[in-house]
Amino acid sequence: MTIAVTPQELRDMKPLKVSNDLIGDGPALMVRIERDGYAFLQNVLDQGAVARLRQVYVDALIDMGVVDPGSTQPVWNGVDLSNFPKKVEPLHDAKVWERFVAEPTVDAFFTRLLGARPFWIPIVEYRVTPPTSEPWEDPFIQRHQDGFYNQGITFTTCWIPLMEIDDVTGGLAMAEGMNHAGLLHNVDDPPQYEIPREAIPLDVWRRSLYRPGDLVMFNTRIPHTGLPNHSDRFRLSMDVRVASSEGELPVLGEILAVRPDALVVKNHDGRELTLRLDDETYCRWTTGRRLPLAEMLTLLKPGEDILASAKEGHAVMLRPPR
Ligand SMILES: [Fe+2]
Repeated sequence: MTIAVTPQELRDMKPLKVSNDLIGDGPALMVRIERDGYAFLQNVLDQGAVARLRQVYVDALIDMGVVDPGSTQPVWNGVDLSNFPKKVEPLHDAKVWERFVAEPTVDAFFTRLLGARPFWIPIVEYRVTPPTSEPWEDPFIQRHQDGFYNQGITFTTCWIPLMEIDDVTGGLAMAEGMNHAGLLHNVDDPPQYEIPREAIPLDVWRRSLYRPGDLVMFNTRIPHTGLPNHSDRFRLSMDVRVASSEGELPVLGEILAVRPDALVVKNHDGRELTLRLDDETYCRWTTGRRLPLAEMLTLLKPGEDILASAKEGHAVMLRPPR
């Protein structure tokens, strides 16, 4: 096995640019994110709110038996992790992100940052990355662009580290400048459509030392990845997606009816919308692979919530809000 990147090279990666100078100037921040693909803001989120969120994660790990009771840090207790799940469902089920963004200090920060009320798009990832002792042949293997899976929705991803994340713990890496390179996912490589390794030169990757209170905002086009975690603890972060309530918003609401060629939705703004469905509609639902229309129709159920993007009455993308 050839190691593409050595630990020393990971340590020596250039850091992200810091954009704290733009706090309070929402339009300029959005221009920066458009230009750089991201904005790294240091020590901006309420430490108390971040600590409370971290404890919810740690408690879930204690319940799973992989962190010792009474812990405030996600230090692994050595219990076998071979069945550790990809997603920690209790965090999803409890919708812990809603409590975090509703914290008055967090809400006030984002309102000031955007210059408008934040509209939270219910696509959330609770990232709990277990430690590994295995060297990774390609540390950037999970490279992706968020927009590929959520076409048509305008949002900015907010990545929030819940602990100190150094080069050993891994964390978020950004492919600087590659936000202007177009869609890099290989459309001929179903069902995952991965970005080929050679599509991103090694020297564009950036990584910083992240601390609780930091925030990385990025657009849907910049490729990014999570680096391997070779520390003694689980790596904890959360990413949520925000839009300005004064900008373009997606369809978000309850399915009222499912027809062979359309979906009727009660939208968050009270409107009843009919969205045309066809084979162009991109939907993975909860399967992780793109679904043909016939299968999509068996999974969409009246009464369930849905998040969608639409263009001229046509459903471009459908997914469950979670
Ligand atoms: Fe992502």
